[in-house]
Amino acid sequence: MSIMQELMLDKTHDETRQGEAFSSGATANQDYNKYFYIESYGCAMNFADSEVVASILHNNGFGSTTNVDAADLILINTCSIREKAEQTVRKRLTEFKKLKRSKPGMVIGVLGCMAERLKSAFLEEEKLVDIVVGPDAYRSLPGLIEEANGGQKAVNVLLSRDETYADIAPVRLNSNGVNAFVSIMRGCNNMCSFCVVPFTRGRERSRDAESIVGECQALFNDGYREVTLLGQNVDSYYWLNEQTDTVVTFARLLEKVALISPLLRVRFSTSHPKDITDEVLFTMKQYENICNYIHLPVQSGSTRVLQMMNRTYSREWYIAKVDRIREILPDCGLSTDMIAGFCTETEEEHQESLSLMEYCKYDLAYLYFYSERPGTLAARRFEDDIPLEVKKRRLQELVDLHRTHSLKSMQKDVGKTFKVLIEGESKKNKDELFGRNDQNKAVVFPKGHHKKGDYVFVKINTCTAGTLLGEVVASAE
Ligand code: SAM
Ligand code: SF4
Ligand code: F3S
Repeated sequence: MSIMQELMLDKTHDETRQGEAFSSGATANQDYNKYFYIESYGCAMNFADSEVVASILHNNGFGSTTNVDAADLILINTCSIREKAEQTVRKRLTEFKKLKRSKPGMVIGVLGCMAERLKSAFLEEEKLVDIVVGPDAYRSLPGLIEEANGGQKAVNVLLSRDETYADIAPVRLNSNGVNAFVSIMRGCNNMCSFCVVPFTRGRERSRDAESIVGECQALFNDGYREVTLLGQNVDSYYWLNEQTDTVVTFARLLEKVALISPLLRVRFSTSHPKDITDEVLFTMKQYENICNYIHLPVQSGSTRVLQMMNRTYSREWYIAKVDRIREILPDCGLSTDMIAGFCTETEEEHQESLSLMEYCKYDLAYLYFYSERPGTLAARRFEDDIPLEVKKRRLQELVDLHRTHSLKSMQKDVGKTFKVLIEGESKKNKDELFGRNDQNKAVVFPKGHHKKGDYVFVKINTCTAGTLLGEVVASAE
């Protein structure tokens, strides 16, 4: 299964999206005499970063391997979003410890958000780690590896105001050759009080629009048929082309990528309710190949809690945004993130999250209980006062309600016909293919003569909670 599919699956229980890892690499590259193994945790941006890291290492004489025992360099690209995500990484590091004992020259590096959060303290806490590299310092990896080979522990966690890795062509890892992530910006300026990302990823900066379009064009030329434009807050994308004195907003960027070819699907994540504009919604409406799917995290249904979270919108504002999306794009798939049991959340306020969920009837929801992160605004200002059992119970209530909505959302599609981009074989049955429709729903159908990368029209005959099942009624090209 591709990273993409995995990330898009409906995972409504806590800690799943950030807790899973993917080892990545190709085993067939015989021209190298040193090999790296990389395992990535966390959000799609981290997976995209691992592909930048792979490119930097390839250019410096390292081949990639999926066989950890064959690696000279083990990298773990980490996530700090919740405590459990960090525990998963620490557990994995203890497993690498055994390996290092049997292969003393092996270098172990920690990359990503946990590296940034803990900095050199990581070397104290985890004695086996040789290098620690933050998300903006990947260009320095070859030098740091050399230092580590010379017996020096090496750290670079400098954050940058302008690093976007725009000139680095990512090496696609674990790719199905159909979908790819493309980073359009880095960092975040929003300072939601619960969130560690502004501290681990630094200030928001947008990547040169031409380099984004160039990367998407190259992917299309290589046979890819879907790109997902990534940023923590894509709606605040802003690029000033100083030569032509023109501004590229997110809506214009979407349009530029959509114009590459009608055969290239365009998705994006994440949208912030305070920033998503009508211009974006109308651009989605205008181009058939911009998918009708918006991930619009709400976090809480209570205006008071939203204020404490520093989300800068109210329940009513959010509802008005959802109404507007449905007015302009009636068929648009909608998903969200929600946090149960944030500091001081009352039972009534939790009920407000449930009632907001009832109103929005999300197709997909990523639901978590609050996990205090050291250094965040919430950790400094508020007491983490909701007992764990209460957090878990509230989370379960959100999960249960969401399940009823997602099942209904699947059931209402039975009998309809959708254009599906084929992403590969079904996991469960080699005679079936797997793809997704415009609204991001998984669709499985008998293989026939169709293949990965094709578009087909599939009539839906039945469904499970997570998958639409049907048959091809026509090719779409
Ligand atoms: N940038 C996106 C946004 O603004 O919604 C989300 C980024 S974050 C990587 C993904 C999700 O993790 C958040 O939407 C939030 O629901 C959840 N999250 C972040 N910090 C958390 C915390 N301290 N405890 C529990 N969940 C958290
Ligand atoms: Fe975190 Fe908020 Fe930024 Fe999303 S918008 S990454 S939740 S600070
Ligand atoms: Fe995790 Fe960092 Fe992403 S904290 S969710 S890997 S931005």
